[in-house]
Amino acid sequence: MRCYVIREENGTFERGVEDYEPQARDSDDLQVRVEYSGVNFKDALVGTPSSRVRRSPVLVGGVDGAGVVLNSNFPAIPAGTRVCVHGGEMGVARDGGFAPLVYAPSRWVSVLPANISTRDAMVIGTAGFTAMASVLALEHHGLEPGAEVLVTGATGGVGSLAVSLLHARHYQPVASTGSPQESAWLYERGATRVIGRDEIADRADRVLASERWAGAIDCVGGETLHHILRSLNYGAAVAASGLVASPDLNTNVYPFITRAVALLGVDAVETSKRTRTEVWRELGEVAGLIDFAGLIDSTISLEGLDDALETIRNGQTRGRIVVDPTAR
Ligand SMILES: NC(=O)c1ccc[n+]([C@@H]2O[C@H](COP(=O)([O-])OP(=O)(O)OC[C@H]3O[C@@H](n4cnc5c(N)ncnc54)[C@H](OP(=O)(O)O)[C@@H]3O)[C@@H](O)[C@H]2O)c1
Repeated sequence: MRCYVIREENGTFERGVEDYEPQARDSDDLQVRVEYSGVNFKDALVGTPSSRVRRSPVLVGGVDGAGVVLNSNFPAIPAGTRVCVHGGEMGVARDGGFAPLVYAPSRWVSVLPANISTRDAMVIGTAGFTAMASVLALEHHGLEPGAEVLVTGATGGVGSLAVSLLHARHYQPVASTGSPQESAWLYERGATRVIGRDEIADRADRVLASERWAGAIDCVGGETLHHILRSLNYGAAVAASGLVASPDLNTNVYPFITRAVALLGVDAVETSKRTRTEVWRELGEVAGLIDFAGLIDSTISLEGLDDALETIRNGQTRGRIVVDPTAR
């Protein structure tokens, strides 16, 4: 079948559409017909020569996919169930979602809420799962509706879903972006204010900045995360999931010891079954309030992936790129 395969063997790197049979790893793997996949920042890292993220010389790319179970040994997820598959080694160390078929252990498989189509599940995708996990992490820390919450990388996958989800849950998302031309689009997603990337740094000559944010969702890392920590309200938290600017964090302890702020790590890859279930349940709660069509950057075939991976690597997406693996 036609799959998007990444190969790095004998000093040669190739990626593209080819005839390939996705492989099960375990006899208990569920077999899922993939109706849609999505493009995530991690896919761009996997699809790069000498990638330190990819852990197989040959694999189908795609860290997520949504579709219908074809074969299953698990009574809780029988054949015919609509599911989303993401996380674990998918698209990183074994065949992923850029194919019409994927095999996965049950712990990577989430049953979709009735009101989320397989297409909308991939508008959400790993990015939107991460955004909702971030919202829930802040809520578990004490965030209350009505609060102003900063979202960085706002036009990206995690960022745009975070803005939409916060709006749907009655927060006031403040979208920080390096793409000011997309301000109107961010207001349509539910932002109450749009600010530039450089506006996050405040009173950089001081140890602490003014208290500005009741919470923050950050997928940028580096200096951005440092400045967020310095400007959180007393007792507030930032949910950190990404590193598009930098994996380094040079900061100091003052925000923690004088303002009791918290740095909450968010991971969508090895997250527990309990968290997966909670995140998809909460996504189902707000799905009717989300403009999924408005969040789509483009819908592409497998042939469009070369360009899509470059676009996302360069931080030039607006929302989510959805992949239809059977389209020509
Ligand atoms: N922890 C996890 O399990 C997990 C899960 C999903 C994603 N992630 C991580 O989250 C990050 C975002 O993923 P994504 O899928 O949302 O990527 P994405 O769609 O490419 O979005 C990233 C956004 O960040 C902004 N940006 C890009 N380069 C930047 C830079 N140098 N400095 C500041 N901002 C920059 C851009 O938005 P603006 O133009 O609006 O600023 C861009 O659209 C990635 O690091 C990814 O690996 C982690």
